[in-house]
Amino acid sequence: MTSSILVTGGTGTLGRLVVPLLREADCKIRILSRHGHPAEDDLEFVTGDLLKDEGIEAAVDGAETIVHLAGGPKGDEIATANLMRVAARAGVRHVVLISVVGADRVPIGYFRSKLGSEQVVRYSGVPWTTQRAAQFHDLVLKVAEAMAKLPVIPIPSGIGFQPIEAAEVAARMAELALGEPRGLVEDVAGPRIYEASELIRGYLRAAGKRRPIVPMPLPGKGGRALREGANLAPEQAVGRRTWEEFLAARF
Ligand SMILES: NC(=O)c1ccc[n+]([C@@H]2O[C@H](COP(=O)([O-])OP(=O)(O)OC[C@H]3O[C@@H](n4cnc5c(N)ncnc54)[C@H](OP(=O)(O)O)[C@@H]3O)[C@@H](O)[C@H]2O)c1
Repeated sequence: MTSSILVTGGTGTLGRLVVPLLREADCKIRILSRHGHPAEDDLEFVTGDLLKDEGIEAAVDGAETIVHLAGGPKGDEIATANLMRVAARAGVRHVVLISVVGADRVPIGYFRSKLGSEQVVRYSGVPWTTQRAAQFHDLVLKVAEAMAKLPVIPIPSGIGFQPIEAAEVAARMAELALGEPRGLVEDVAGPRIYEASELIRGYLRAAGKRRPIVPMPLPGKGGRALREGANLAPEQAVGRRTWEEFLAARF
């Protein structure tokens, strides 16, 4: 049976990988984006902005499932509340949310905001599934590239990351979207935990750059939580592709 799926964030790093998987499964896909895009065969775009509460009704209209992948540095809980208010009214049957590993343990703005989104979804009245994922390799690369613009790279000391390949998270999101609502499912994280400095060194080597690295303690409760590994899921190291393999493919 063809099901109608709204994908928010369908133009993003994760969303661009989820959409083809759902199309292969014969779903009718609509993507909500803040920018206009020409329609393609069976792919529809609706222009709207979740934070500004614009265009959401048209995007949700007729959708049986919502795969909610849109996100930004700030305000995800507000964007999600705007989306879920419309989704509940429209009788959407299933919402699948992407969140972050440690959303409930790391008291830093972004993680708090993702926890806020989780709670909005949980109490929306729409049957739901929430998947928490660790940082994607693409994000680590973006941060490393930005840091390498500095003459000296400050790196938070004693903090680990367990990056995962976005395509592996995408496969999981598509599987969840095609299944029944499952509530909060087990975290997904990459195959290895790396010190932040190891990730940067790997990047510098792959990119053929040299920069001095200076350890910098991250202050506050957030820093402590990260040093305690609250952003990691060692029991859920289900990702296969390593940071080194990702870098080798990029450089
Ligand atoms: N990156 C990571 O390491 C990571 C790890 C765990 C969880 N996550 C979560 O996974 C999701 C996707 O991450 P990503 O890295 O793929 O993000 P991304 O590449 O930065 O893409 C963000 C997406 O969100 C959409 N979006 C942003 N603000 C919007 C708004 N106000 N209204 C409607 N759409 C909006 C963008 O669409 P347009 O630009 O087309 O409007 C874009 O498709 C996010 O929720 C993020 O928090 C990410």
